[in-house]
Amino acid sequence: MAPAPATTLDTADHPEVSNEVAIALINTHCVACHASSPGHPAFQAPPAGIKLENLSLLAMHADKVRQAAVDSHYMPLGNLTGMTNEERQLLGQWLQHNKP
Ligand code: HEC
Repeated sequence: MAPAPATTLDTADHPEVSNEVAIALINTHCVACHASSPGHPAFQAPPAGIKLENLSLLAMHADKVRQAAVDSHYMPLGNLTGMTNEERQLLGQWLQHNKP
């Protein structure tokens, strides 16, 4: 049998992360700031121009979101919502399956 090809991120043996889970993650951890009218009092406009109010916006920003919240802990800013490593992995898996 041929060896399995090497991949940087092996998502093959993980079940696909549902859209409901992805929405819950961004609603909990991102949307307070990354919305057209952010609920967070410090922001009048979405920081860095990045809105994450729905899944098509999330997919559109897949690469940047991966860098900011999966490959690093740069986001959520200050991690006031306490995003866990497990949640970051779930987000990363959703992005992997749904990026354009
Ligand atoms: C408390 C407010 C806040 C929350 C919550 C937040 N962000 Fe941000 N985000 C910011 C600010 C402010 C910037 C701009 C920072 C900068 O320019 O260095 C930013 C920038 C970004 C950027 C652009 C980084 C780049 O490469 O320029 C991405 C992508 C991002 N956030 C994703 C996310 C994701 C994904 C979440 C949720 C997991 C999240 N953010 C949660 C405030 C927030």
